[in-house]
Amino acid sequence: MEIRLSRKIVTFLFLIVVLFMYMIYNYHICALPEITQSISNLHFNRTLELYNRHHHIKTIHQVPIITLTGSDAYPKYRFFRQQGLQPIRQLPTALIIGVKKGGTRALLEFIRIHPDVRAAGCEVHFFDKHYSKGFEWYRHHMPLTLDGQITVEKTPSYFITRDAPQRVKLMNPSIKLLVIVRDPVTRAISDYTQAISKKPEMQSFERLVFFNGSQIINTSWGPIKLGIYARFLKRWLVYFPLKQLLFVSGERLIVDPAIELKRVQNFLGIKCVVTEKHFYFNSTKGFPCLFKSERRSTPHCLGKTKGRNHPHIDPAVLQRLRDFYRPFNDQFYHMTGINFGWP
Ligand SMILES: *[C@@H]1O[C@H](CO)[C@@H](O)[C@H](O)[C@H]1NC(C)=O
Ligand SMILES: *[C@@H]1O[C@H](CO)[C@@H](O)[C@H](O)[C@H]1NC(C)=O
Ligand SMILES: *[C@@H]1O[C@H](CO)[C@@H](O)[C@H](O)[C@H]1NC(C)=O
Ligand SMILES: *[C@@H]1O[C@H](CO)[C@@H](O)[C@H](O)[C@H]1NC(C)=O
Repeated sequence: MEIRLSRKIVTFLFLIVVLFMYMIYNYHICALPEITQSISNLHFNRTLELYNRHHHIKTIHQVPIITLTGSDAYPKYRFFRQQGLQPIRQLPTALIIGVKKGGTRALLEFIRIHPDVRAAGCEVHFFDKHYSKGFEWYRHHMPLTLDGQITVEKTPSYFITRDAPQRVKLMNPSIKLLVIVRDPVTRAISDYTQAISKKPEMQSFERLVFFNGSQIINTSWGPIKLGIYARFLKRWLVYFPLKQLLFVSGERLIVDPAIELKRVQNFLGIKCVVTEKHFYFNSTKGFPCLFKSERRSTPHCLGKTKGRNHPHIDPAVLQRLRDFYRPFNDQFYHMTGINFGWP
C-alpha cells in the first residue's frame, strides 16, 4: 500500500515535470515570464491551501494548471466575441528584420500605436533560432488579431541570418520587410556601448576595432561586420524584389518620426493614423517620446537603456571608420536607391 502510493506520487511528479518541460520547450523565451508568474501563483495557492488545511478551513482552492491560453480571454475582446467576431492568431504579414541598434524597438513602438497593427510583444527569433519548431509554434507567439488587423514581428538578427531570406520566403512570398538603418559608425559605437554595459571588462572600442594596434580594421568583429549593410542586403534581394522592402532612416526616425511613419503606413497599406500629434520631443533624452501608446495611455519615452550615452571615441578612429564604410555605404545607396547621407 505504502509502496503503491509512493509510486503513484512519483508517476504524478514525473508527469508534471514532463508537462513543464514541454511547456518550456513550446513557449520558450517569450512565455517564460508568464510561466514564472503562473508558477508563483501556483506556489502561493498551494501555500494557501496548506495554511487553510492546517487551520481546518474547508475551502479547497481550485488550482488550474498554468493557464497559458488565458490571454485569449482578455476582457478587451469580450465586446468582439459578443458580436460573433473571433480574434485569431496569424502569421505576420510584415517583419522588422533589422538592423540591430538601428532603432527597431522605436519603430515597432511607433507603428503599433496604429489600431490596425498588432505586434508580437518580444523578439521571437523564429527565423534564426527557433525555425525547427515550425510555423505553428511561430503563429502561437503572435498576438490576437481581428479581421483587418495586420500582424508584425520584429527580430533584428533576421537581417544578418544567412538562412532567413529563404525561410521567410517559404512562409509568405509577398511579406513586407522593414529595415531600419543608421550610420554604420554610430551604429557600431551603440552596439559596443550596449555590449560593454553588460560586460564592463571589455577592451576599449579603439582596441577592438583594429588588429593589434595597427590601422587595419578587424572586419570580423561583430559591431563592424554588421554595418556592411550591402553585403547582407544582397542575400535578401536574391529572394525578394526591392519593392517588398522598405528602408527606414534611423536618423530621421529620431528627428522627424512622423515623416518616416507616414512612409511606413503607406508601405503597409494602412490608413495614415500615426502622425505628428502622437509625438513630442524630450530634449533631455534627445529622443522623440509618445503621448500615449498601446501599452500606456500617459506620455512616456522609451526604456532607460535606449539612448544611452556613448563613450568618447578618438576622432581619428572615427575618421578611419568613415573611410572604411564609405564604399559599402555607396553600394547600399545604389542597391536601395536612397542616399541616407551618412558622413
Ligand atoms: C490562485 O488563486 C486565486 C484565487 O484564489 C485565483 O484567482 C488564481 O487564478 C489562482 N492561480 C493559480 C495559478 O492557480
Ligand atoms: C598581435 O600581437 C601579438 C603579440 O603582440 C602577436 O603574437 C600576433 O601575431 C599579432 N597578430 C597580428 C595579426 O598581427
Ligand atoms: C578580430 O575579431 C574577432 C571577432 O571579435 C576576434 O575573434 C579576433 O581575435 C580579432 N582579431 C584580432 C587580431 O584582434
Ligand atoms: C524627459 O527625459 C528625462 C530623462 O530621461 C525624464 O526624466 C523626463 O521625465 C522626460 N520628460 C518627459 C516629459 O517625458
